[in-house]
Amino acid sequence: MSPSPDATAPLFAISGLHYRYAGAQADALADLDLEVREGEFVAVLGANGSGKSTLARLLGGLAKPTAARRAAVCGHDLLSEAGRLAARRDVGVLFQNPENQLVAQCVEDDVAFGLENLAWPAAAIRRRVDEMLTRFGLEELRRREPHMLSGGQKQRTALAGVIAIPRRVLVLDEPTAMLDPAARDEVLAAVGELRAEGLAVVYITQEMGETVGADRVVALERGTEAFAGDAGGLFADAPLVRRLGLGLPAAGELALALAERGRSLRGPPLTMDELLVALGGVT
Ligand SMILES: Nc1ncnc2c1ncn2[C@@H]1O[C@H](COP(=O)(O)OP(=O)(O)OP(=O)(O)O)[C@@H](O)[C@H]1O
Ligand SMILES: [Mg+2]
Repeated sequence: MSPSPDATAPLFAISGLHYRYAGAQADALADLDLEVREGEFVAVLGANGSGKSTLARLLGGLAKPTAARRAAVCGHDLLSEAGRLAARRDVGVLFQNPENQLVAQCVEDDVAFGLENLAWPAAAIRRRVDEMLTRFGLEELRRREPHMLSGGQKQRTALAGVIAIPRRVLVLDEPTAMLDPAARDEVLAAVGELRAEGLAVVYITQEMGETVGADRVVALERGTEAFAGDAGGLFADAPLVRRLGLGLPAAGELALALAERGRSLRGPPLTMDELLVALGGVT
């Protein structure tokens, strides 16, 4: 019997990670550390160009780090070709634009695509695809061409395809950024369910409001770590939140404006309910 993976080892054990695009003058990621364990939900925050998608590609084994002290993903070394290939199997990556991830002629073929590449037996693929279509509410759309879907349906199809392959950890790169509010809620609900089932998630976003409930947040600024800790700690540093250029929900903007005027609220109050409570027991 082959040894089972060490359940206590971190899923991501990254330190001193650097990445520089060919011909670029500066690193897109510089000296970055990240540790994520089983069941954790870690939010990675950062403005445009801070290195979020570069990090997603590296974590998913889709690009080779320029250098790293340690770059272990589910026990695989990202510095080796074999390690990156193994990482691609264990780490599911969902990008911002579902158009770039939908490849097949219809929804069910899209969900089956990764399993076919892994040469699963046809009957097992059918069972797994049915399970995914039910889970993501896509049964009725199974024969629909992906480009005919709404944005939320596209992103759910892409997520179903990523999850169809049993994963050890998910990296979601701004999965709601191109969606309207209703579709955003659909995708966030699907992510919430995966999280409730104990799947580890690295959730990349520019929106502070989407980090509610994260175990930890890491904020990037020009490829380096500007903050790592809990969301409350980041929010307590109003000048840093402003400098990082993060999106804030209305309740967060109000809380931040109060903090800048010397009235710090316990929190971070990012939802209206939390804000009302923080303002003094109004429920
Ligand atoms: N293919 C590329 N070649 C050269 N430079 C790149 C390439 N892709 C990204 N960069 C640069 O690397 C840095 C990080 O880009 P990245 O796409 O990782 O940022 P991001 O945080 O995902 O931004 P966004 O919020 O706009 O998606 C930026 O300075 C960007 O210009
Ligand atoms: Mg990006």
